[in-house]
Amino acid sequence: MKKQEVDSFENDYVETIDDVAIADLVRAYGSPLFVISEKRLRENIGQLTQAFAARYQPVIHAWSYKTNYLNAVCATLHQEGSWAEVVSEFEYEKARALGVPAERILFNSPAKKRAILERCVQEGARIHLDNFDELTLLDAIATELNIPTPVTLRLNFSTGYTEDWSRFGFNLDNGAALDAAVQIGKSSHLRLCGLHSHIGTFVFEPKAYQVQVEKMCAFMALIEQHTPARIESLDIGGGFASQAAHQGVARLAEQEIPRFADYAEAICTTLLKIAAQREAQGKPRLSLILETGRAVVDDAQVLISSVVARKRLPDGRASYSMDAGVNLLLPVFGHHHRIQTTRFLEGIAEETVLYGGLCMNTDVIKPSIQMPPLQIGEPLVISPAGAYNTTQWMQFIDYRPKVLMVHDNRQVSVLRRAENLNDINDLEFLPTHLAEINLTGV
Ligand SMILES: Cc1ncc(COP(=O)(O)O)c(C=O)c1O
Repeated sequence: MKKQEVDSFENDYVETIDDVAIADLVRAYGSPLFVISEKRLRENIGQLTQAFAARYQPVIHAWSYKTNYLNAVCATLHQEGSWAEVVSEFEYEKARALGVPAERILFNSPAKKRAILERCVQEGARIHLDNFDELTLLDAIATELNIPTPVTLRLNFSTGYTEDWSRFGFNLDNGAALDAAVQIGKSSHLRLCGLHSHIGTFVFEPKAYQVQVEKMCAFMALIEQHTPARIESLDIGGGFASQAAHQGVARLAEQEIPRFADYAEAICTTLLKIAAQREAQGKPRLSLILETGRAVVDDAQVLISSVVARKRLPDGRASYSMDAGVNLLLPVFGHHHRIQTTRFLEGIAEETVLYGGLCMNTDVIKPSIQMPPLQIGEPLVISPAGAYNTTQWMQFIDYRPKVLMVHDNRQVSVLRRAENLNDINDLEFLPTHLAEINLTGV
């Protein structure tokens, strides 16, 4: 058997979420359950924007919908002033339905189709150009509709610190980005006014962002000299690490993860120097745009899942089947999650495997953890579970569960009810000749 990294548990337990007893939540709403702390979400976005605004202004945060697009999460962040960053027609429509004005929606995607581009041009959304086909199509649409259209150019390049995300946007080093800026410069209806790049996710090294800003600003100077582009905003995407260490990172998450202030220092120190030079040339101040996703929401949401069955494995290890599996916790494949009980556990710790409830050998929540015996019905709190969970979750084998939000005053709201058979069957059509079944055997 492959040697596994064994997590130590050390009777790590948590009884409440924002003063609401977890045991009461499970009694009242069942298990499994996702639970979001409104307080933590507001604190996180406040800390992020404060860290930046104290060093540079103006700063805009655009909420990356794909990270967690539950309406209540988006609405909380929009109340805190965040714009929307979307990557599909669905996400765009969600943001519009929540009341976000089109001009405060940033549209990233490598595959925007004509219909959504037309809508974005008509409504005035901020389109982040990804490729030459899109550029040519958008130019044609803006010309046909006769609507002057501001655009942002998405760039890709190497920072030397992160894996390259070279499939998105225009490459700086091979001249594609410059060619795109020149092509936009010749358009009668497109106006290049923003630069964007997203250098990756879980970026542990703040210096990566310093290099990013330097490269973007060098390109900005080049295109402002050689094309009609006048850049008003610099969007540095997302990528700040959250408190969920990557699998295989043999260090304590808390020790490794930079604070918002560390990222802000690296970014703003560089940007301030460039802003000062631009202002000396009479150019307006650049807006700094952040699309931080996971670092804002990951630790604000947990998954509560309970033990359904116990089994001693043939090699002697303890194992449990839980009522939630990788269908609800897809990021489990990439990250370490903290497992907490809701009470102090008596008994001797032993090596334990926590399985999900799916009929799949790979449905493993924790391959190896030292913990005392658990009882049937024992709820475990799995965290963080706020980023890319309630967007990437699958309706596979079982229904998706309720999502709750705990508010500051200990009130609890159901943000999303559990699925039922009708939800799924409503999308299907049964051809009439299949309406009757016959189970008498072959
Ligand atoms: C363009 C863009 N912006 C923002 C984000 C959010 O990134 P993160 O959750 O790592 O902050 C992503 C994630 O992939 C992205 O692709």
